[in-house]
Order: sequence, then structure tokens, then C-alpha cells
Amino acid sequence: MNIPVEKPVLVTSALPYVNGYCHIGHLRTYVPADIYVRMLRKMGYDVKFVSGSDTHGTPIVLSAEAQGVTPDEVITKYHAHFKQVFKELHVDFDYYGRTDSETNHRRTNDIVTKLIEHGHVYKQSMKQAFCTTCVRFLPDRYVEGTCPYCGESARGDECDQGCGKHLEPGEILEPHCKICGNEADFKDQEHFFFKLSSFTDFLLFYLDTLGGTLNARNYAKEWVKKELRDWCITRSLEWGVKFPGRDDLVVYVWVDAPIGYISFTEELLKARGEDERAWRRYWKEDKATIVHFIGTDIIYHHCIFWPAMLKGAGYSLPAVVVASGMVKIDGKTFSKTRGDVVWVTEFLERFHPDTLRYYLVAQSSHTKELDFSWQSFAMRVNKELVAILGNLVYRVLSFAYNNFGVVPDGVIADEVVAKIEKTREEVISATEDYEFKKLVDAVMKLADFGNSFFQREEPWHLIKQGDQGRERCGEIIKNVLQLIKAICILLEPVMPAKMEEVWQQLSMEGDVHTVQLDELFVSIESGKALKEPTRLFEKVEL
Ligand code: MSP
Ligand code: ZN
Repeated sequence: MNIPVEKPVLVTSALPYVNGYCHIGHLRTYVPADIYVRMLRKMGYDVKFVSGSDTHGTPIVLSAEAQGVTPDEVITKYHAHFKQVFKELHVDFDYYGRTDSETNHRRTNDIVTKLIEHGHVYKQSMKQAFCTTCVRFLPDRYVEGTCPYCGESARGDECDQGCGKHLEPGEILEPHCKICGNEADFKDQEHFFFKLSSFTDFLLFYLDTLGGTLNARNYAKEWVKKELRDWCITRSLEWGVKFPGRDDLVVYVWVDAPIGYISFTEELLKARGEDERAWRRYWKEDKATIVHFIGTDIIYHHCIFWPAMLKGAGYSLPAVVVASGMVKIDGKTFSKTRGDVVWVTEFLERFHPDTLRYYLVAQSSHTKELDFSWQSFAMRVNKELVAILGNLVYRVLSFAYNNFGVVPDGVIADEVVAKIEKTREEVISATEDYEFKKLVDAVMKLADFGNSFFQREEPWHLIKQGDQGRERCGEIIKNVLQLIKAICILLEPVMPAKMEEVWQQLSMEGDVHTVQLDELFVSIESGKALKEPTRLFEKVEL
């Protein structure tokens, strides 16, 4: 979809639960979002990019209990960890907050209060899973059992192994206590419900106009058409954002977590010295385009609960939801308990972050699953980054450095300009379609062309053929350097650190991170001294 360039854009990526280390599955949300933001900026958009840690809910309290520490200790540790990972991977948020901030408590309180005032919330007694051994209620992840929709094993609030549906308290079949493993009972408890069912028509209309990837829209529409049940929005937990007027209840984590997107916008703009009401342009006055990056496992929450809540409380609606396919490992779902998981920190001990960024988008189309294997990673690096891109840059720059020492003189051929123009168009349309694989494939094709152009023109013969040969040779080299410059600009969003190296090796001035796409056609300046190049990528040996 073409989003208007006149309006500011807010890109968010789903907030990680900070109850454990970052694995490469998480990155399928963050890396493409970062690529998208960098590309939009190159296209001239005004973009803000926010995310933050999801600090509430049973994922956090269960981890804290298991480790015998407080939720705050768990959060502090993993919040710092995620921030560090994002820094190393050059996922450059304008703001990275946490949902336990004062702003988010206040904003959540305001939104829930609005929902109550607008008549969207009611109180009702309901059956809650209860463990007679542990003598406690079992909210969400405290209970495990079978999904009533697809029969797979599920957690209390989501069918995480099967159909992915959100489950309401009391819905799960054969419930067992996660702590002691015993069969759970049910006990009555009073809770607050959001009248989600009354948003059915609104959601059907909204989902028809929603931009982003089709998987998000279609999955959500199917569930809305089937039947929407009202949504229990309170939990009897200590840790969380208090339900207005009730000290014994907190709101369900999926209420305050997406509200974090609003709070972080507010915190960002405040930190930048903008006036106190600036966030309203994004979330109240429809003056911006809101784009959410998520994984397919949380489509239900972002395309059903979230827009209904925003609508009910009188806030602006997101225009785009981009949902990535899940990362699997050798065909299996990621599982920390089974040890089927690849930790980002361990990955980065062995390989450059940009090779991971590249792999995550090049390996499969964004909405498809990505089946991680070390073999496929080695293939992508060795056959593409080393053999095509690295080879082009090193071979041409070495030749230029050894024979000229500077960027030689010459006219950029029409053929070369046309190839760059075509690639630019492909990259823009891939960005607009959230097809990040198409984006890298298009630029790699340009690199391929660079290699064959160099090969075809045989500059190593020309250089030996007197002054005229040398001149023609220089022109060829200048053309390939222009191609490398274009590739560098177009791949900066994907591999920001490596492309900064290329930019320097080309002796370019300015900042490759902020340079706009128009720069693709600006002739690389002749006479600039070149440095001795170094190789960009190392081969991966398994
Ligand atoms: N806290 C919620 C999101 C709240 S957003 C208001 C959450 N956290 S998470 O840590 O489980 O996931 C964070 C992001 O990583 C989500 O976009 C999720 O889809 C993505 N992924 C987590 N594991 C994944 C894979 N194995 N594969 C692909 N994406 C995955 O959900
Ligand atoms: Zn299911």
C-alpha cells in the first residue's frame, strides 16, 4: 500500500515480554520494522519508530516466581538485555520504553475509564481456573490444557501450539496447574468485561480498510465472522496496572501492552521537547499514519482487541498491520524448554549482526514461515553476501585502488542508469508491499549485473592498451563504482554497518544512513582518493 508521504508516520514493533533472552524469532518483528523505517526515511517520509518492553502479565510473574526474585528484578535484567541486543543489531528505535512507566499507567487508566464511561464495560461473575493444591486462582499462563477450537495443547489465554486463538478465562479444556501439575478446579470470581461483541460490524468494516499484509486482515476477519465473545479485561494479580477503582484487580496485560505504543509516543515527543499535546496528532487527531509490525501469533490482539479498544475510547486507528511468519528451527516451533532455540547473543559471538539481518529477510518472504538452519544461513552468506556482493565490492575497489588510486573519470552509461532506476523502482514497490525479500533480491540482482558488467568489459585488458585503453578502463571502473554506490544506498536499510564500511571504502562524504534515494543518480565524484579496500564478509564454515 502507498502511504501518504505528506503525513508523519509512526512505526511500532511489538513489545517483547522481558521474561527471558532475545532469540532470533523475535528479530523477525524488529529487523524488518527497522529496515522499513530506514527505507521510508530514504524515500522522504517523516518517521518515528517506537517500541518498548512488555513488563506485565503472567509471562513476567511466572518467570519471577520460578527464579525466586521479584518481577522488577526480572524486568530490569531483560529490559537491559533487549536494549543491548537492539543496539548491536542497529535496530534504532527513536524511543524504547517500558510498560510499567508512569505514563503508561496513566494512559491505561484514562483509556479504561473512557471505555467504562462510554458503556463498553460490565461486571460479571465467572468461573476461573483454581488450583486446590496451590490454593490460588490460575490466570492465563498459570494454567495449561487443550484448545477448545483446534484440540492442540494451549496456555490459559492463548492456543500457542495450534490455531493461535486467544482464549478467554475458563475456556481451556482439561486445565492443569502450571506450578504443581495437578488438575485445576473452577471457582467463581467477579471480573470486568469489554463488550467486544458489539464491535463486530465496526471490525468487519475496519478490517476491510486496513493496510499491511493480507495474512493479518484475513485471519482476523475469519474470527470476527465466526463470533466475537466479550473480553475479560481484568485479572486477580498484584503485578500490573490497577483496574480503575479496584485495588484487588489489574487489567489484563493485553490491555496495557498496546497502550504502550501511545505512551511511548508521548514519552518520545516529550523527551524531544515538543509540547505536551503533541502525541495527540498521532493518536487523537488522525494526523499520522500508524503502522504496527508484529508476528502472526499476535494478529488476534492487534487486529481485533486493539482497534475495538481504540474505537471505544475515541482514539485514532492504526492504518497498517504487518505480520511476519514465525521463525521455526529445523521445522519445529521455537521452544525454550526443548532447547529448540537460537539465542541472539550466541549468534553474535560468531557472526556479524548484518549477516543475520540479511538472512532474516532474504531467507523467506515476510509473511511466510522461516525455517532456520545453519546450512541455510551459511548458504546465504557464502553464496550471496560473499560470492556476489563482497566479491563485487572487493574486486572492483582493489582494481580501482591498484590501477588508479582515485575514482577515475568517465560518463555513467545509460545502461547503468537504467539498471539503477529499475532497481530503485523494485525496491520502492517491495517496501510498499512489505516484501523485504523482494527488496534484497532486487539489489542483489543489481550486484550480479555489476559483476557481469565488469567481467564483460574486461578492464584488465583495457588497462594494458595505452592511453585510450586506460581512459576507457577508467570509465568502466567509474560505472561499476556508481553501481556499488547505488547498491550501498539501497542496502543500507538492510545492513547498516556493512554499508557504512562500503560508503567509506568508496570515499563518499555525507552519511549513508540519512542519504536519500535521489542520491542514487548523483555521479560519484572523480578524482577522490581511494583507500586500500578490505573484504566485507567472511565465509561461514560450519
Ligand atoms: N508482549 C507481547 C507483544 C505485545 S505488543 C503490544 C509478545 N511478546 S513476545 O516477546 O512473545 O514477542 C515479541 C515479538 O516477537 C512479537 O511480534 C512476536 O510475534 C515475535 N516473535 C516471538 N517469537 C517468534 C518466532 N518464533 N517467530 C517469529 N516471531 C516471533 O508477544
Ligand atoms: Zn487452537
